[in-house]
Amino acid sequence: MPYTIGVVKETMAGERLVALIPEVVARLTKAGATVLVERGAGAEAFYADDAYTAVGATLASREEAFGADILVKVRPPSSDEIPMMKQGGAYIGFLSPLDEPAISKTVAARGTTALSMELVPRISRAQKMDALSALSSIAGYRAVLLASTLLPKFFPLLTTAAGTVRPSNVLVLGAGVAGLQAIATARRLGAKVSAYDIREAVKEEVQSLGAAFVELELEGQDSSDSGGYAKALADEKAKQQVGLLVPFIGKSDVVISTALIPGRKAPLLISEEAVQAMAEGSIIVDMAAANGGNCALTVPGETVVRHGVTIVGTKDLTSDMSVHASQLYARTLLAMLQDFTDENGFKPNEEDEVFTGSCVTRGGEVVHPRVKSLLS
Ligand code: NAI
Repeated sequence: MPYTIGVVKETMAGERLVALIPEVVARLTKAGATVLVERGAGAEAFYADDAYTAVGATLASREEAFGADILVKVRPPSSDEIPMMKQGGAYIGFLSPLDEPAISKTVAARGTTALSMELVPRISRAQKMDALSALSSIAGYRAVLLASTLLPKFFPLLTTAAGTVRPSNVLVLGAGVAGLQAIATARRLGAKVSAYDIREAVKEEVQSLGAAFVELELEGQDSSDSGGYAKALADEKAKQQVGLLVPFIGKSDVVISTALIPGRKAPLLISEEAVQAMAEGSIIVDMAAANGGNCALTVPGETVVRHGVTIVGTKDLTSDMSVHASQLYARTLLAMLQDFTDENGFKPNEEDEVFTGSCVTRGGEVVHPRVKSLLS
């Protein structure tokens, strides 16, 4: 029996990605799915309606696309959108289950089986489904390019007839996926790069990219959980960390901050004192802005100048790369769709670790233990 997959236009302000691109739709239509694409869904990522129909997609109204058997999206469905979703259908996309669990509750009431891309377990088999990593890497790259154009200085060492220019110092705070890509990009541009993370385990990775690893004398470190994620530091240590970072931040021309703890407000790493310690004209790109920011002076969604330092709080780093960001995101969704459908539609193996890890709602209820406990 043919089944439908719906692709809709994202309406959250600033979001320019589309969940599926024509290259991926071609694979799905070949496998027997009917892909309903809302007219204009891919426009902001430069994927035209014609490109979708050329690979077998059907252009549809917004209501038709939302009503598909399986809805795929970038941003969590809004309260206006959830009532358009098919009763008892499936959803695959970001759902913000730890930051905004109320969305999951409403989706559950619709009878939807919802898989959250944020909760795909980070096991090797699921790497191809790891949307967070794909998008973090893009954002890390873009953050450095943005900083390099805002900085009134060269990144590389330059020898000119008028003398030598010293390379800029770039400090990357948080050396996860985004941070490592930021380090690699800043190195390619010739900057002198150093990086800091509470997880000691990343030291070698940082050094292998040609950056120096900043070590702080924090008393009694213990900062990774078993999944490789950072754990929140106890209050006292967090304060110590902020203080110890001041001199390192102070001598940087550019700081790219990426530190996040899943399901929590971003840790504060850059105090006002640290901003004051930087030279005027320096740049901070706070990639944690959407989660409250790593810098005390960040205004999420805006670029502000404080004490002569430009602090970028953009939330649009991946949208600024909408072609490739959509491409990589669509491939992670394809991997999910391939694993969780058969020729008749959505048919997950309920024992599958990726399914149980990412499934937030099923049978009218929120079933994910972490999300459930946040709601109670
Ligand atoms: P993230 O985006 O949640 O956090 C970014 C970075 O901030 C992390 O490296 C974290 O340690 C750091 N951080 C948090 N609090 C901090 C603080 N107070 N001070 C300094 N740094 C702080 O992390 P991301 O990039 O999503 O992944 C983290 C790690 O997860 C990876 O480096 C890797 O080890 C693991 N991972 C495993 C994958 C797999 O096995 N398939 C795929 C992707 C990541």
